[in-house]
Amino acid sequence: MRAAHSLDVSFKVMLTVGWFVLARFPGAASTVAAECPDQWPELQPWNPGHDPDYYVHIGQGRTLLLISSATVHSIRISEGGKLVIKDQDEAIVLRTRHILIDNGGELHAGSALCPFQGNFSIILYGRADEDVQPDPYFGLKYIGVDRGGTLELHGQKKLSWTFLNKTLHPGGMEEGGYFFERSWGHRGVIVHVIDPKSGTVIHSDRFDTYRSKKESERLAQHLNTVPDGRILSVAVNDEGSRNLDDVARKAMTKLGSKHFLHLGFRRHHPQW
Ligand SMILES: *[C@@H]1O[C@H](CO)[C@@H](O)[C@H](O)[C@H]1NC(C)=O
Ligand SMILES: *[C@@H]1O[C@H](CO)[C@@H](O)[C@H](O)[C@H]1NC(C)=O
Repeated sequence: MRAAHSLDVSFKVMLTVGWFVLARFPGAASTVAAECPDQWPELQPWNPGHDPDYYVHIGQGRTLLLISSATVHSIRISEGGKLVIKDQDEAIVLRTRHILIDNGGELHAGSALCPFQGNFSIILYGRADEDVQPDPYFGLKYIGVDRGGTLELHGQKKLSWTFLNKTLHPGGMEEGGYFFERSWGHRGVIVHVIDPKSGTVIHSDRFDTYRSKKESERLAQHLNTVPDGRILSVAVNDEGSRNLDDVARKAMTKLGSKHFLHLGFRRHHPQW
């Protein structure tokens, strides 16, 4: 089983996001050339241009330095092959359907001692309805690191924590407390409507579909009036199934919920 490999020698990474950016970081200017992968002497400059049908395989003996933006079908790096991204002023955008690194292959952008200063983006492109065979483990769009592969991406240091800059009061926010309350007053299906641009909660309501069928109707009506494009967050607190009727279950299912159709008494709470 391939998944079991990740427990010992190999290191598997799957990025499901479509793109990311290593942005310019003015603070870390002093670097030691030897520590910077793009200064390695064996590298050959590589400028593959833009060809969405180009299946790149960087294998034995090939050590390439990407010096400009490029579009290719996909990239496989293996058998000691190396791809290094040049750290330069001009932005580099690499467009590819996927990148697979395994069996001694390496991909480097900067290093721990020489963080990438420039601007490098990887854009994973492609659509699910195109006839492309997914990798059985990684799927369609991925930067996959399988057994024996190395991925080194070092850029701007990001703050992974923050300070609270004001006091949190026990009363909580407008929508209620910070803490989970299991009481009759909070039972049922809780629906938040969120603005996708600002992330603010535009509307929140609770439907006690344990208590009455009327609440079920109200829930279905509410769901049907939310305009397209809004984000809906739906949670069940305590119990919400006793008087949850078909109309409400179907309204939720139509929106994409996989669990509401079968929501039962504390059997399982829907994740959506
Ligand atoms: C990096 O380059 C991309 C593509 O050229 C550009 O959209 C983006 O604004 C740049 N970011 C920075 C921080 O310079
Ligand atoms: C706390 O942070 C928020 C968001 O960044 C800011 O608007 C606010 O002014 C800050 N308050 C204090 C007391 O620093």
